[in-house]
Amino acid sequence: MQFLDLTAQYKSIKKEINKAVNKVLSNAHFILGEEVTELEKEVAAHCGTQYAIGVNSGTDALLLALMALDIGPGDEVITTPFTFFATAEVIAVRGAKPIFVDIDPKTFNIDTDKIEEKITAKTKAIIPVHLYGQPCEMDKIMEIAKKHKLYVIEDCAQAIGAKYKGKNVGSFGEFGCLSFFPSKNLGAYGDGGMVLTNNEKLAEKIKMLRQHGSRKKYYHETLGVNSRLDALQAAILRVKLKYLNKWEKGRQQKAKKYNQNLAKIKGISVPYLAENNEHVYHQYTIRAQKRDELQQYLTQNNIPSVIYYPVPLHLQPVFKNLGFKEGDLPETEKAGKEVLSLPIYPELPEKNQKFIIEKIKEYYKKN
Ligand SMILES: Cc1ncc(COP(=O)(O)O)c(C=O)c1O
Repeated sequence: MQFLDLTAQYKSIKKEINKAVNKVLSNAHFILGEEVTELEKEVAAHCGTQYAIGVNSGTDALLLALMALDIGPGDEVITTPFTFFATAEVIAVRGAKPIFVDIDPKTFNIDTDKIEEKITAKTKAIIPVHLYGQPCEMDKIMEIAKKHKLYVIEDCAQAIGAKYKGKNVGSFGEFGCLSFFPSKNLGAYGDGGMVLTNNEKLAEKIKMLRQHGSRKKYYHETLGVNSRLDALQAAILRVKLKYLNKWEKGRQQKAKKYNQNLAKIKGISVPYLAENNEHVYHQYTIRAQKRDELQQYLTQNNIPSVIYYPVPLHLQPVFKNLGFKEGDLPETEKAGKEVLSLPIYPELPEKNQKFIIEKIKEYYKKN
């Protein structure tokens, strides 16, 4: 059994993908160009924003967002310590300081009641992360941002298509950042990412930054980077985007099935779904008592599972200089010891899911 079977997805759309790839190979326009421009329009429409700018990865999407807002040395950026490393890495790479706020134990997202106490004169932005595909409490975050004049950069790497009060994630703040890493809900066949925005000036700035600070070839107005989306990835993503709603419904159905069967087991909490949210289940993540033993038991039965994330960012060696010690962000640390993500993808065979459920039930009967 695999944790994620990307070949099953490829098989289902093989003809269309191969046609799209061959078209790019034939016209030999490999970087940016029409495929990227069209994908940008289509993703913007899908996510309910006016602009979308294709870049090299989700990490670069976040980095360029910070660059566009001139966030750097001396600045502080509030975020969650319970996320993939890149979210905080880019803050530090810019020379700014990540300020970690503990999470809400129910949703695993940043605890909005704990943000304001961390705001100082140096705070410039908040980066909420819609973890596992579940939106953060965006009303509250936008209200705090407005009150304290802070930018909001949404990390939507795991949550394309997710909605808060019917509105797409990535359309609330100055920027929304997408990742097209192959395992993501909309995954490329390599690295890729996109920056969403409703602000024309900021969109222009991101376009410049992704291309060595240049609007016109060989004329450079500012320092930038090389972070362009390539046409092969864009062509593949254009095919896949058409199926995204259907695939995300598939994920929701698989999640429902898990919920129906696992919710009553003593020793497990199934994912909490906040009232205003549409969750796209990039991951189906339970909290489990005796988590490590459960994982071992599943492994023995050939069932893969993953811990996202075993070491919270405030306790990572690279952030030692921030002065955190164990116990400082208790909900995050507790989650790191209890979470377990189970296989979830639209093509997950029913018999596999049944087997996973059976084995989890069996484990808790025995233990
Ligand atoms: C929450 C989060 N932020 C940022 C990233 C970085 O995206 P990428 O791998 O495309 O650079 C990822 C995924 O890898 C992620 O899960």
